[in-house]
Order: sequence, then structure tokens, then C-alpha cells
Amino acid sequence: MLFVLSFLGIYLTEAQKVSGFSLELIHRDSPKSPFYNHRETPFQRLRNATSRSFKHANRFDRKSASTTNATDAQSDIISDSGEYLMNISIGTPPFPILAIADTGSDLIWSQCKPCILCYEQQAPLFDPRSSSTYEDVSCYSRQCASLDSSVCLAWFGIDSCLYSVSYGDGSFSNGNLATDTITLNSTNGSAVSLPNIVFGCGHNDLGTFDEKATGIVGLGGGDNSLISQMGDSIDGKFSYCLVPITSSDNNSLSSKIHFGSNANVSGSGAVSTPLVAKDPETYYYLTLKAISVGNTSIPFVGSSFGTTEGNILIDSGTTLALMPEDFNSKLVSEVSKQIDEVPIQDPEGTFDLCYIADSNFKPPVLTVHFSGADVKLSSLNTFVPITEKVVCFTFKGAEETAIYGNLVQANFLIGYDTQKQIVSFKPADCATCNFF
Ligand SMILES: *[C@@H]1O[C@H](CO)[C@@H](O)[C@H](O)[C@H]1NC(C)=O
Ligand SMILES: *[C@@H]1O[C@H](CO)[C@@H](O)[C@H](O)[C@H]1NC(C)=O
Ligand SMILES: *[C@@H]1O[C@H](CO)[C@@H](O)[C@H](O)[C@H]1NC(C)=O
Ligand SMILES: *[C@@H]1O[C@H](CO)[C@@H](O)[C@H](O)[C@H]1NC(C)=O
Ligand SMILES: *[C@@H]1O[C@H](CO)[C@@H](O)[C@H](O)[C@H]1NC(C)=O
Ligand SMILES: *[C@@H]1O[C@H](CO)[C@@H](O)[C@H](O)[C@H]1NC(C)=O
Ligand SMILES: *[C@@H]1O[C@H](CO)[C@@H](O)[C@H](O)[C@H]1NC(C)=O
Ligand SMILES: *[C@@H]1O[C@H](CO)[C@@H](O)[C@H](O)[C@H]1NC(C)=O
Repeated sequence: MLFVLSFLGIYLTEAQKVSGFSLELIHRDSPKSPFYNHRETPFQRLRNATSRSFKHANRFDRKSASTTNATDAQSDIISDSGEYLMNISIGTPPFPILAIADTGSDLIWSQCKPCILCYEQQAPLFDPRSSSTYEDVSCYSRQCASLDSSVCLAWFGIDSCLYSVSYGDGSFSNGNLATDTITLNSTNGSAVSLPNIVFGCGHNDLGTFDEKATGIVGLGGGDNSLISQMGDSIDGKFSYCLVPITSSDNNSLSSKIHFGSNANVSGSGAVSTPLVAKDPETYYYLTLKAISVGNTSIPFVGSSFGTTEGNILIDSGTTLALMPEDFNSKLVSEVSKQIDEVPIQDPEGTFDLCYIADSNFKPPVLTVHFSGADVKLSSLNTFVPITEKVVCFTFKGAEETAIYGNLVQANFLIGYDTQKQIVSFKPADCATCNFF
């Protein structure tokens, strides 16, 4: 069965709405991912993920340091950012691509034929000429005008809207801004078909892109993201449930992303906090008031994102919970005070607090106090194994940055309601639960 909906909410009637659907979110280090390296231990994978985390975080940091300008919201993205992949199809007939799901960017793009100067890609290239629904976006269209980085090529009968995305590390993607049908295979077996989705068809993409991924699906809050383009048809709602990193080696367990009514987060244990609208609108800003360690509350003093509202970003593509240095040292000192054992050094110097994971190791409970929402973390969120015997604290100091990364988000159903402007958290067992 094929569900068709328009991304222009105003043209939708109630009947055309999909009630909801869900997709698998493939962790890039899980066995289903082409990035999976079976020779690496789960500990090496975690190391790699944390080092990617810092690169990824840099883009947010530089943005916040300067006077923010939505025009260059895309420009600081590092090219291989994002920890999760989504299997989607472009065109008619549907052509599958495995793209990086990125809550920190907006534009969807993929490499396209003819690829004049492109990075090596293992999977076949999408050929726009073989899709009956592909159309270049006109220079004079609303879509072209809404993309800040667009350039018009219009003379002698040519009418092309060109996009350009450049990344902090010098990588870039250039090509035609186009529309085509995007098909998503719902985990319940139905295909959801989204006509006229704006995306970048890249003909000139160079830099440090990985040959295993074939593009990016932007899930940010800006106009061109998949979320914004689906708009009213999903009531502006999506949610995800990330399985803990310690389970990501298990092929039968996978994280999920839900859209529309499948993305409702309610019932016992659900708490909500306001989404704070700020520049750039791509990022999802929340307000952090304090973090409690056992019964001791440590007030959050703010970050480069602000001292009050919208002082922290929530991002699935960052691994650790990155905190301003001052706040983090208070947090680390309180956590270690409440653990009876003697901390050990992380030999690689990445983590701020590590312990031998023996039966005496009992970490205190951390509660994250977002504005209006207290989120009680489990020890799975706060300490991760870096060797067979050693566990380390998942919060880390990073100058003035504050990012609520994916390790602390594991085993919560996290819902984004972009119409009500709230983010909700509900404790869940993401590996076994079958919500919908
Ligand atoms: C899958 O979900 C869609 C949208 O909610 C629903 O209409 C459809 O009946 C479901 N299909 C199956 C096979 O359950
Ligand atoms: C993505 O979908 C294609 C087509 O259905 C399939 O061959 C491939 O195995 C899928 N990849 C992953 C990582 O699930
Ligand atoms: C992990 O990092 C090492 C060293 O940088 C690299 O050789 C390896 O390919 C990385 N593994 C993955 C799966 O990215
Ligand atoms: C953003 O940058 C553009 C181009 O540099 C400039 O025209 C615009 O005024 C800036 N907007 C803000 C809000 O600073
Ligand atoms: C979606 O499912 C169809 C039918 O099973 C399959 O042919 C197609 O490759 C799938 N696409 C993706 C992206 O998984
Ligand atoms: C993978 O997860 C399933 C479902 O929870 C479980 O039954 C199975 O034992 C796990 N496999 C491994 C290798 O841990
Ligand atoms: C989700 O919420 C919407 C509106 O709040 C409601 O109409 C819908 O029935 C809910 N869906 C589920 C699966 O609970
Ligand atoms: C926290 O406070 C409660 C109630 O005041 C008390 O019962 C509990 O022992 C305290 N826990 C710690 C770790 O101090």
C-alpha cells in the first residue's frame, strides 16, 4: 500500500495525512552498517565515536562564538558527521540510498549522475534522468529563494537553481536544487511516498566524505529539512529511541525513528521541556537548569549558547554529553565524591573520570533538570565501558559548549513536537519495546 502526501501542508486534507510511520536508525558502528568493522572491539568503536564527537561539536561551537547568522548555518558541518544512518529511496522507481541522518543540518543531498568531480562512492549513483518524478527547481521558485546558499543560473533558456554546501574541513557539495519523490519503508511494511521533496542533487562533491555513505538527510529545524518539508503531514512530530551503545553489536536490536502519530510521547513517566527558537533554526535548543548528583544539585551556569533560555543543544550526532569546563569540573568532583572507589586515569586522556568496573562500583543517580522536565539517567547513560574492566563518565568538559549527546539519550523515547515547540522524554527499553 502506498501513502501519498504533499509536503505543502496547506494543500493537505485530513484524509491525505499519514497517521504515522517508523524507520530503523542504523548506528554507523552496528553490524548492519557498511562502516562496521568486525575486527574492532566495541571499545575501539566507542573511542572512534567519541573522537568524532569532538569534531562534530566544533561546528556548533564556532557558530555560537560568532554572532549567529542563519545564512551560514550549514557551513560549519563536518562532512562525515552524524552517528546514525537512514535507508531511504529517491525517485520513481525508488532508488535506495543509505544516508547519514543528521539532526544538526537541514538540506537533504545525495551524489547524482553525471558526477563531474565527485568523491568515490561504493553504492551506485542516483541518475536523475531515470526518475520520472525528478524536476530541477526553478530559479524563480519559492524553494530556490528559501535556500540561502542558492545561486541562479538563468540565461538563454537555462533555468537552474544551484545549491552549495561547504563544510568546516574544506569539503563541499555543489549541484542542482531539485525535487523528487522520497520513499520511506515503514517498519510495519508499508511504503510512505513523499512527493516533491526538495533536495540537493550533487554533481561536484569533494573532500573527506566517506565512500560508504551516499548523502545526508537533514533532520534539523530549518526550512529545507525532511522534518520541515513533511510539516503538517506528520503534525511536525518525530521521535527516536536509541539502543544503548553496549547493545549496538547485536544485529537483532536497532534504534528507531518515528514520525507523525507514531511519534507521540505520552503516558506515565513522560516529561516535556520547551524547544527554544533561536538562530540558526537548524539546531534544537533546550534549557538546562541544573544536574543533580544523588541529592546534590549543581546549578547550570550557562554556555556559549546563552545563560538562560536555550543554553544547551540536543543532538543525536554527538556521542558524549559536552559541558562547559567550569560546570563539568563541579559535576565530576561531586560524582567522584559520591563513589567510594578510587578513580583511575584514562590512558588515552579522553575521559575525565574512570573506574574499575567491579562489583563494588555503584555510581550515583544523575537527574538532568531541564526547564519543566526532570530526566533521571541510568548508569547505562552515565558510565560506558572503555575496556573489559574500565568504565568512564559520559560527561566531558568542552570549553563553553553544551550538547546533550546520544549516550545520555539512550533508552529514552525522545519526541520533538515542532508545532507545540516541546521535546519530551520517556524512559524506555529501546531494544525490546515495540511501541507501535
Ligand atoms: C502501517 O502504518 C500505516 C500508517 O500508520 C497504516 O495506515 C497501515 O495500515 C500500516 N500497515 C500495516 C501493514 O500494518
Ligand atoms: C537498505 O536498503 C536496501 C534496499 O532495500 C538494502 O539492500 C540494504 O541492505 C539496506 N541497508 C541497510 C544498512 O539496512
Ligand atoms: C577507528 O579509528 C581508527 C584510527 O583512527 C581507524 O583506523 C578506523 O578505521 C576507525 N574505525 C571506524 C569504524 O571508523
Ligand atoms: C547574515 O549575513 C548576510 C551575508 O553576509 C548579511 O547580509 C545579513 O545581514 C546577516 N544577517 C544577520 C542577522 O546578521
Ligand atoms: C523498500 O522496500 C521495497 C520493497 O520491499 C524494496 O524494494 C526497497 O529497496 C526498499 N527500500 C529501502 C530504501 O529500503
Ligand atoms: C540480541 O538481542 C536479543 C533480543 O534482546 C537477545 O535475545 C539475544 O540474546 C542478543 N544477542 C546477543 C549476541 O547478545
Ligand atoms: C497522537 O496524538 C494525536 C494528537 O495529539 C492523536 O490524534 C493520535 O491519536 C495519537 N496517536 C497515538 C498512536 O497515540
Ligand atoms: C536523599 O534524600 C532522601 C530524602 O531526603 C534520603 O532518604 C536519601 O537517603 C538521600 N540520599 C542520599 C544519597 O543522600
